[in-house]
Amino acid sequence: MEHEGVTKVKDLLKSTDYGSEVKVKGWVRTKRGNKNIAFIALNDGSIIHNIQIVVDVPNFNEDTLALITTGASLSVSGTLVESMGKGQTVEIHAKDIEVYGTADSETYPLQKKGHSLEFLREIAHLRPRTNTFGAVLRVRHAMSFAIHKYFNDNGYYYMHTPIITASDAEGAGEMFRVTTLDDKNPPLDENGNVDYTKDFFGKETNMTVSGQLEAELGATALSQVYTFGPTFRAENSNTPRHLAEFWMVEPEMAFYDIEDDMNTAEDFIKYLVQYALDNCSDDLEFLNKMYDTKLLNRLKSIIDTDFKRLTYTEAIEILEKSTKKFEFPVKWGIDLQSEHERFLVENHFKRPVILIDYPKDIKAFYMKQNDDGKTVRAMDVLFPQIGEIIGGSQREENYEKLISRIRELNIPEKDVWWYLETRKFGTVPHSGFGLGFERLILFVTGMSNIRDVIPFPRSPKNAEF
Ligand code: 4AD
Ligand code: MG
Repeated sequence: MEHEGVTKVKDLLKSTDYGSEVKVKGWVRTKRGNKNIAFIALNDGSIIHNIQIVVDVPNFNEDTLALITTGASLSVSGTLVESMGKGQTVEIHAKDIEVYGTADSETYPLQKKGHSLEFLREIAHLRPRTNTFGAVLRVRHAMSFAIHKYFNDNGYYYMHTPIITASDAEGAGEMFRVTTLDDKNPPLDENGNVDYTKDFFGKETNMTVSGQLEAELGATALSQVYTFGPTFRAENSNTPRHLAEFWMVEPEMAFYDIEDDMNTAEDFIKYLVQYALDNCSDDLEFLNKMYDTKLLNRLKSIIDTDFKRLTYTEAIEILEKSTKKFEFPVKWGIDLQSEHERFLVENHFKRPVILIDYPKDIKAFYMKQNDDGKTVRAMDVLFPQIGEIIGGSQREENYEKLISRIRELNIPEKDVWWYLETRKFGTVPHSGFGLGFERLILFVTGMSNIRDVIPFPRSPKNAEF
């Protein structure tokens, strides 16, 4: 639907309707010129490129033109003209310009180009107006859309799982508490502990670390479901790959085993990368030029490569044999660090890797136990530049095995009784995985810090905007 006769810059740049009267609205990127003619580069966020507005200076009010500086917002009406200038095919010869808002050139932080990403993080409220963040936000949008499209086209149902929960799905204890109790004077029980029965929900609750447990409830009814929502982890990892609030995509499939799970994960991620190449080419070319000249090649190469699949145990042997000195020493049983994961992907196999059969002690309680008594049917997808991008598993569908693992780990049964009932009533083999959405965006955009691929990052000591 057209709004007030306005055409988006994206559509104007494709138009060959020379001589037509058009209207465009947006923000000034630059203005240059002399006392006879001025050129304004206007951007409305619909595309990385600007449209050039040509202004016959003597025909306009001098005071109005003086207000047009970098960052000002305008409505421009004029004639669409084939451009003789370099680097653009069309421009608008302005007839009427309305200034909505000015941006004082002394104080507007984006007056100059070329700010560092670190500085832009400090002005996260304005950074969407830069080329880089415009590109990242459009790619983020396209990837969200593609996720829904992939699952919708493949018979999955989008399931909304709760943000406030009473369980710790991953068992890592990294949760943000949700409470309405008075923090200065909370009610206490007879042992002097905070009495959560008096809290809003009558029990201790937290922000979810994963929608998986609820997704399993959906999958054991609708067969294939997925969640796509924010997740919260209070892990104090100040790394370029961790956020305290991130978005996760979690498909869950009844009747799927670990092989099916791996095949789905590989197909899904290739689909998303192909979608980005097909639909975000302007933005990806910009990012390729500005940040990472290997980006486009890396994206294309992923699509044609079979991911290497091997067991955790085999991976440990490779790491132990390698001559590379790792910061974290390698031995069977360790949780792999990103340096190990990236060595396997970038140095050893030179392609994405899927590791399976991890030691049960470093994985969550719900994973299907292998017959060796030591490992579980987990799978992690490891990517170049990123390390772990997907974590998943076949789930333990056997009630007895699951409950004995829950007891071994001292997980309170009163918190998971409802989950256990899926294994009591009509249990089925099933599998699923979680894709870290920001890690996907890191990979697709070639950005190197996860704080630069989400509009308003939440990380330790950082919740300003
Ligand atoms: O491996 P994780 O912890 O797996 C789960 O939460 C399972 N419940 C998923 C499932 O089987 N349904 O997390 C899944 C993915 C990781 O591979 C990583 O990409 C991302 O989520 N992730 C994070 N991304 C950003 N910041 C963090 N702190 C993250 N923690 C995990
Ligand atoms: Mg994981």
